[in-house]
Amino acid sequence: MGAGTQLSLPEGLRALGALATQQTQRYPLRRAPAVSGERLTLTARPTSSDIGPGVVDAWTLNGSLPSPTIRLREGRTARIDLVNQLPEPTILHWHGLSVPEAADGHPRFAIQPGGTYAYEFPVHNRAGTYWYHPHTHMRTAPQTYRGLGGFLIVEGDEEAAHELPRGEYEIPIVLQDKRLGGSVSLTYELGMGPDMMMGYLGDTAFGNGVANPTLDVRRARYRLRLLNGSNARILELGLSNGEPLTLIGGDGGLLEAPARVQRIMLAPAERADVLVDFSARRPGERIMLRSFAFQIPGMMMGMGMGGGMGRGGMMGGLMLGTEMDFVEFVVQDTAPEPFEPLPSRLSELPGLDVDAGTPRRTFRFQSMMMNHTINGQSFAMARVDERVRQGQTEVWTYVNESELPHPVHVHGGQFRVLSRTGGRGRVMPWEMGPKDTVLVLPGERADVAVHFVHPGIFLLHCHNLEHEDMGMMLNFEVVE
Ligand code: C2O
Ligand code: CU
Ligand code: CU
Repeated sequence: MGAGTQLSLPEGLRALGALATQQTQRYPLRRAPAVSGERLTLTARPTSSDIGPGVVDAWTLNGSLPSPTIRLREGRTARIDLVNQLPEPTILHWHGLSVPEAADGHPRFAIQPGGTYAYEFPVHNRAGTYWYHPHTHMRTAPQTYRGLGGFLIVEGDEEAAHELPRGEYEIPIVLQDKRLGGSVSLTYELGMGPDMMMGYLGDTAFGNGVANPTLDVRRARYRLRLLNGSNARILELGLSNGEPLTLIGGDGGLLEAPARVQRIMLAPAERADVLVDFSARRPGERIMLRSFAFQIPGMMMGMGMGGGMGRGGMMGGLMLGTEMDFVEFVVQDTAPEPFEPLPSRLSELPGLDVDAGTPRRTFRFQSMMMNHTINGQSFAMARVDERVRQGQTEVWTYVNESELPHPVHVHGGQFRVLSRTGGRGRVMPWEMGPKDTVLVLPGERADVAVHFVHPGIFLLHCHNLEHEDMGMMLNFEVVE
């Protein structure tokens, strides 16, 4: 690059990303242990765990990093006991599931060290990729960052009727960024300034709790259940070889029809179920699941920068929108394995009953410096801001009035995205089915149709975990 050569911002971001991933040492991707059955116990405790470049003090469930993958069947009742052996209070939340109030993991249910919480809930949700994570008052971000949280997979007959890859060919992968800053540790040290505005951005890509993971694959079709489990980083996922991803599902199970997409923009807490076909790849070929460089129009100037001063005076994480390689797939020298083509229709989606008479509410997401609010207010445990009727469908409008992105998440029921205006101005392919988290970028407004099954107090919040911990959350009550 000669003197006076100017890189455009996206090129610059790409170059930075390339620098960061150059000659990266890669470590084998692990699969979480699967747990299923009528009654499960999850014990949260500090555990020395191998993250690839070394062993760190992580917080785990049942000693495992990543946390176990829970498999439940549609229509069954789950019974799960949480045992807290951490040095601070905690509580788990089943993200995306509609469960009774007492099983939702609201922060007011947090248990002290030494305590136990017994969850019991019927599995109402469609088959799909859900997850669970801590929901402790003002401690969700550090607890999730240190390793707590895993997949919760719901299985059902409609999905099982399709010839989708399973067993060895079905891989749940939680994608996260961690801030190693030249050391090997999962220490979480929230700095002032950018960390409190952007959230805690990392400098290293993780998959299933391992830094810069790599996975040997056969020449076959795989199903990747992708979860963005990052505290704050939005991902722009695609394959390094330019092949499209075959999108089959989102937050709430199968889409009506599969879609071929080059990129999937996945915000924290969102899931994408994709098929990747390695059957025609050359043995030895290396293909990256990459988060490509991107820019967010209307974002606060300079706020792509993560960090502030981290450990050892290092700057914090990589800017939001920096290219990062998440998982490397290495094609093995195996015989190509044939598979059934996908049907053009995957699923019947439940109908929507929205008309001119449907009740509406608006929620405004605002960030002023380090203050993140909804309708001008910060979370208060004992305050209930909205009352909605059980069984009633409502249209909720999320308006982003700030210069920061906000992935908006609701407890107690999933929703359908009806429209998006401003910004991207459309509903994206991965937003076509039931969802529980919708990314609202600066200048955007999203209309969603929500419906609540269980009475009680539930939460609406931003799923940037730092924003959430800082109070971008509210209670609403579902009344009978
Ligand atoms: Cu995934 Cu209230 O959370
Ligand atoms: Cu949730
Ligand atoms: Cu936010």
